[in-house]
Amino acid sequence: MSAAEITTKAAQMSLEENFVFVDEAAGSDETGQGTKSAPYKTPLAAVTTIASMPEEKQPTFKIQIKKTGDDEYAEITPSALKKAKKAHEIAAKKAKKQAEQAAKDHSENDAKLAEEQRKLEESKKIVLTEDSSLPQAKQIKIIDATNNRNTRVKVYGWVSSMRVQGRSMMFIILRDGTGYLQCVLTDRLCHTYDALTLTQESTVIIHGVIKEVPEGKNAPDGHELVADYWEVVGKAPGGDEAFASRFNSESDPSVLYHERHLVIRDETASSVLKVRSRVMRAFRDHFESVGYNEVTPPCMVQTQVEGGSTLFSFNYYGENAYLTQSSQLYLETCLPSLGAVYTLSESYRAEKSNTRRHLSEYTHCEAEVPFISFEDLLDCIENMIKDVVDRVWAEPATRAMIEKLNPGFKPFAEPFVRMRYENAIKWLNEHGIKREEDGKDFEFGDDIPEAPERKMTDAIGKPILLTHFPVPIKAFYMPPTKDDTRVTESVDLLMPGVGEIVGGSMRIWDYDTLLAAYKREGLDPAPYYWYLDQRKFGTCPHGGFGLGVERFLAWLTNRFTVRECCLYPRFVGRCQP
Ligand code: 4AD
Repeated sequence: MSAAEITTKAAQMSLEENFVFVDEAAGSDETGQGTKSAPYKTPLAAVTTIASMPEEKQPTFKIQIKKTGDDEYAEITPSALKKAKKAHEIAAKKAKKQAEQAAKDHSENDAKLAEEQRKLEESKKIVLTEDSSLPQAKQIKIIDATNNRNTRVKVYGWVSSMRVQGRSMMFIILRDGTGYLQCVLTDRLCHTYDALTLTQESTVIIHGVIKEVPEGKNAPDGHELVADYWEVVGKAPGGDEAFASRFNSESDPSVLYHERHLVIRDETASSVLKVRSRVMRAFRDHFESVGYNEVTPPCMVQTQVEGGSTLFSFNYYGENAYLTQSSQLYLETCLPSLGAVYTLSESYRAEKSNTRRHLSEYTHCEAEVPFISFEDLLDCIENMIKDVVDRVWAEPATRAMIEKLNPGFKPFAEPFVRMRYENAIKWLNEHGIKREEDGKDFEFGDDIPEAPERKMTDAIGKPILLTHFPVPIKAFYMPPTKDDTRVTESVDLLMPGVGEIVGGSMRIWDYDTLLAAYKREGLDPAPYYWYLDQRKFGTCPHGGFGLGVERFLAWLTNRFTVRECCLYPRFVGRCQP
């Protein structure tokens, strides 16, 4: 209990016959009152209480103390009293000093605030004007900064970070989506009200000349914009509402997903999205180079492709409809009209499990090719992956981002491993990887779950085209092979670190065989009349595949989860922002 608290208590209480009681065993300095029924615990509390009485009354008080083990109160000994008085003096001195220091701090703080306020008021008088004798500033994007060194430019952007150096220099790292630019503001430019109150993520326009930084100094791209004029376009909040207080690198993932619209401003998140943009373009360029047409099939459908358990259904003008799981069936209908086709469209899966490689909505790169063999299909997939990687790697800016996100990454130098499902089962058993449900060896016919598949892929450490899955574990449209009707002409491409990124197969192209497959799967063929018509009006052997763009990116940019590889991830429990 503090001296002040004891004083207040003493003023409220009436001490019995001018005695102050101390019970070393049962008393309490916190709740005691110095009375016999509520004694203090220490002589110090008693001395402090007496010291708070009017000075002339103090000598009339006596301290009665019951030591631990004693039954009765006795008067305090002179030496114990002296000791308690000394302790009280020290405590009182300390409290006085603290109070004086607090008052001093308070007045210094007030003075500081007043000075800051005065400076802010003063700064309002500084109004910047553009020097009309300077050459007209050319508006540029940061990506073009190197080509515009030593001429007067103006750049719009967001204040990614800033640093004040002394009273007359301020550095702003400006970001405009095309790059980062260090800007230096000196003298009057950093004395304005806007300069003194500038916040991270405010938007500004800065005029000046881009100059190479002197040797030994660091700045993005080795140059900086030496400003001669600037304006705030939109100020971001400071204080409790400041950008930096919304999230940080330690924030819980749920916070990061909630604030994803702000998180994407971060350098790493925006680099992944930029690589994504280049990758999407590279897929298009690849398909263009091999002569496929791009199509955009509908996402609202009334048929399933990959099993009913992952369908999102909705009311479509009173009829039952679904969000598409795959555009494959529509791509197949395009073959007679457009030849080989591809799409980069959204697919939807009601995936109830929370894994790092499943999204409820993902970008699906799918292609379909007529008159090919199963071997051709495997080549198509391998060539596409290699070509897309080569294309993005050939762009210096994209390559730099990939190298930063995924240090040590190199494009493929070797052919992909090709392995039959049957041999994967053998591999798992030979390497002691057991079934999760019963700890036994895998058997032919088992679906290989994510964890063992990943263990195998990571151990082999190379892309694997895993082929010939058994009929019962694959989709209704996959044809059995001629030499072994237990297995299908199907393929998954497995990548180290991520697992399956592509699923593909040849398609049943005979009408009656397809109808029989519907029957086997218990599917009503009626809504698929248009799909069956493909087998009626000039059928052909054909095959195709689908690649999850987010999984490809997770592999390429070394992200832990596909959720970091799309703009606003959708998964169980999240449909925002
Ligand atoms: O293996 P899937 O289910 O195959 C199909 O949809 C075929 N109809 C494609 C085709 O042949 N045209 O899915 C293909 C790929 C997977 O390999 C995976 O990369 C991705 O789509 N994928 C998912 N990505 C993120 N979240 C999910 N829930 C995904 N489900 C599949």
